[in-house]
Amino acid sequence: MILLLLVLCGQPDAPTPMKQCEKAVSILLLTKDDVFYDLGCGDGRIVSMAAMKTGCRAVGIDYDEKRVKLARQTVKQNKVDHLVKIYHADLREVDFEKLPATVFYLYLPQKLIKELTPKLQKCQGVVIISYIHPLPIDHGRKEGDFFIYKILKGEKK
Ligand SMILES: C[S@@+](CC[C@H](N)C(=O)[O-])C[C@H]1O[C@@H](n2cnc3c(N)ncnc32)[C@H](O)[C@@H]1O
Repeated sequence: MILLLLVLCGQPDAPTPMKQCEKAVSILLLTKDDVFYDLGCGDGRIVSMAAMKTGCRAVGIDYDEKRVKLARQTVKQNKVDHLVKIYHADLREVDFEKLPATVFYLYLPQKLIKELTPKLQKCQGVVIISYIHPLPIDHGRKEGDFFIYKILKGEKK
């Protein structure tokens, strides 16, 4: 009930349930050539899972120091520290276009998603997958609780 209220208020800080992490990783058909970013990585569960299951490289970014620490522990415990990096940063200050990402995963409040969307739209060729909340752009597909977008050439804003 509390989680539902948080989600409805647009301020979810709960992690993506493990079953949904597995689903996201399988939907994306990641390979070892992918670079998977979790924007707001929380405890690092999905970056670790993506790397463990597919051998892809993965990066987590979070502005909460405690979560950054926890995510680094998760990565270490799962023995994927050779594939996964965790950074402490505020997403509002990150230039996504400069990152070597092939996939951005988001489970963020709607308000922040709206704020980040113009920057994300500059990342040509990248796949964006958002859990629960859609991006305010008019294409993309829905699969279960995921909204999936491919940023095409010419979409630069
Ligand atoms: C709902 S949790 C999702 C955690 C993880 N992505 C998952 O799916 O399990 C949202 C995370 O985003 C982080 N976050 C929220 N706003 C942020 C910002 N402006 N910059 C960086 N991280 C942020 C929070 O600290 C939190 O860990």
